[in-house]
Amino acid sequence: MDYTVPKLTDYSAAALEKAAGECIAACATEAAEVRSDADLKAFRDRWMARKNGILTQINDLWLKGAPKDAKREAGIRVNELKARILELAESAHVTSSRSVAAECVDISLPGVRRPIGAEHPVIKTRNEIVAVFQRLGYSVAEGPVVETDYYNFEALNFPPNHPARDTQDTLFIAGQQAKPLRERLLLRTHTSPVQIRTMEKMRPPIRIVIPGTVHRNDPPDASHSPMFNQIEGLAVDTNITFGDLKGTLDHAMKALFGSSVKTHFRPSFFPFTEPSAELYVTCFICGGSGKRDGNAPCRPCKQTGWIEVLGCGMVDPNVFEFVKDNGYDPKKVSGFAFGAGIDRLALLKYGVDDLQHFFQGDVRFLQQFG
Ligand code: DAH
Repeated sequence: MDYTVPKLTDYSAAALEKAAGECIAACATEAAEVRSDADLKAFRDRWMARKNGILTQINDLWLKGAPKDAKREAGIRVNELKARILELAESAHVTSSRSVAAECVDISLPGVRRPIGAEHPVIKTRNEIVAVFQRLGYSVAEGPVVETDYYNFEALNFPPNHPARDTQDTLFIAGQQAKPLRERLLLRTHTSPVQIRTMEKMRPPIRIVIPGTVHRNDPPDASHSPMFNQIEGLAVDTNITFGDLKGTLDHAMKALFGSSVKTHFRPSFFPFTEPSAELYVTCFICGGSGKRDGNAPCRPCKQTGWIEVLGCGMVDPNVFEFVKDNGYDPKKVSGFAFGAGIDRLALLKYGVDDLQHFFQGDVRFLQQFG
């Protein structure tokens, strides 16, 4: 560390070059010797301190002392030199922090534990349902969330102005009035439109499940959300009967909730199925008795012992009419369909009391399912 800034008397290009070269070489040697934070500080002070650091001295001795006609040349040189020295100071920093880090590693300390993510309870439930149907030979289909009136309603046998449309509080995309009704866009209110979309693409026989998000104009509360998840099922073939529907769903419920659950079908109405039914399963909280331990009333089933899990039915021949040309002649094929709310099933399955927990992204809630 014996470099000192020489006074310059010769301002020729060669002399400037030589002086700058010696200075840079000295700086590089000193930078390479930096080993610790203390070394680094000393190095920076020596080279860059405003008051009497080497850069300041160069300014004073080489620039200020330069004869008038050499000032320009000397200025360019000194600027190059400064840039190079600053670079060296930077790299000294890197070398220094590397070596300091190397000195400090304590290999006996435990490593940094990264939390492993887990499936969201709704996704987990969705995947379980999909897996049950995949084992029965079903494939998975998907469709758009922004849908046309045609697929969401018309082709599912909800004619324009039919009151059944009112049961699904629809969120419409603005500014669509100029288009014909069937082309107007909306947020799909159910996954059922993918029944039509799939039948347009695939000829019978088909067996599909359709998971996806849907939207309705429902304000959020403990059991409602403007966005929720559904899973739809559709089987079309020759000679599909209501018995197939019952057997398939009975099997699926036992696979999902345990072999002791019983199923029960009650008549219902959906425009796209005829006949239609709602499927109930024995309450998997109270086992069907309507009572909890100590004779307390069972809340999830409202003491009835039964929980409604989905809507279903035989595909209405009017629906097949919309895809007749792709092999769905209602005189030749028949089918069943069903649609379930995944979030509600997850809610019941995990005994969660407020649907909003699923959508708020609170890690403390989600960690319980990890
Ligand atoms: N799409 C209906 C809803 O969101 C549920 C449904 C009922 C789907 C019966 C079906 C079905 O496929 O057959 O309320």
